[in-house]
Amino acid sequence: MRAAGYGAAMSWVAVRTAVVADAPSIARVHVSSWQAAYRGILPDEVLDAMSPGQREERWRQILSGGEGSGFTVVAEVEGRGVQGFGSGLPQSRDDDAGERSGEVTALYVEPSRWRRGIGRRLLAEALDRLRSNGCQEATVWVLAENHSAREFYASFGFALDGAEARQVTSGQSKVRLAASLAKAATPHQSDSAGTGT
Ligand SMILES: CC(C)(COP(=O)(O)OP(=O)(O)OC[C@H]1O[C@@H](n2cnc3c(N)ncnc32)[C@H](O)[C@@H]1OP(=O)(O)O)[C@@H](O)C(=O)NCCC(=O)NCCS
Repeated sequence: MRAAGYGAAMSWVAVRTAVVADAPSIARVHVSSWQAAYRGILPDEVLDAMSPGQREERWRQILSGGEGSGFTVVAEVEGRGVQGFGSGLPQSRDDDAGERSGEVTALYVEPSRWRRGIGRRLLAEALDRLRSNGCQEATVWVLAENHSAREFYASFGFALDGAEARQVTSGQSKVRLAASLAKAATPHQSDSAGTGT
C-alpha cells in the first residue's frame, strides 16, 4: 500500500491492489462516474439503467477469479473509503499492439472528488505496474467526446496514435491514446498535493 500524509489540513490517499471486499465501492464509483462523465455523450437510458448492484456482482467475479495478468488498484481517501479505481493489462487487447504494449482498461474517480489528484495517483500506479511488467508503451481507449479524460491523459504524455473505433454498445466513436513508458510524464505526482477533503 502506498500512503502519503499531506499535513494536518489534508486527508491522506492510499493506492493499493483491489480485493474482493472492494467490489461494492468500485461498483459505486463505476456507476456514478459513468453517469457524470458520459451524460450528453451516451444515451440517458443507458446511463439511467446502470445499477451498482449489477456492477458489484461483475466486480466480485473479476476480483475473486483473479484477473489473469491484469490488475486493479483502488484509491482510498482517509475517512471516505474507496474514491477511485484503475485497471490495466500488461498486454494490450488490440490486434495491432506490439509485444510490449500494455493497456489502461479503466480509470474512474468519484465525481465529487474530481480534480483533487486522485486520478493522477491511480494512473501513476497503473503505469508503474505496466513498466514493471516490461511494457514500453501504454495505450488507452477513450470516447472521442470525452475531452476531460483526453486532457487528463495528455497531462501524462498520452497522444492520439491514429486508431479509431466504435464503442460496441453505443456506437460512439472512440480514439486510442498512447504514451511511451520510457518518457511518460508524471508532472503532478508530488506528494505535497493533497485531496483537499
Ligand atoms: C479522468 C479522471 C479519471 C481524472 O481524475 P481526477 O482525479 O479528476 O484527475 P486529477 O485531479 O488527478 O487531474 C490530473 C490532471 O489531469 C488534467 N485534468 C483532469 N481533469 C481535467 C478536466 N476535466 N479538464 C482538463 N484537464 C483535466 C489536469 O492537468 C489535472 O491537473 P490539475 O488539476 O493540477 O490541473 C476523472 O475525471 C474521471 O473519473 N472521469 C470519468 C471517467 C473517465 O473519463 N475515465 C477515463 C476513461 S477510462
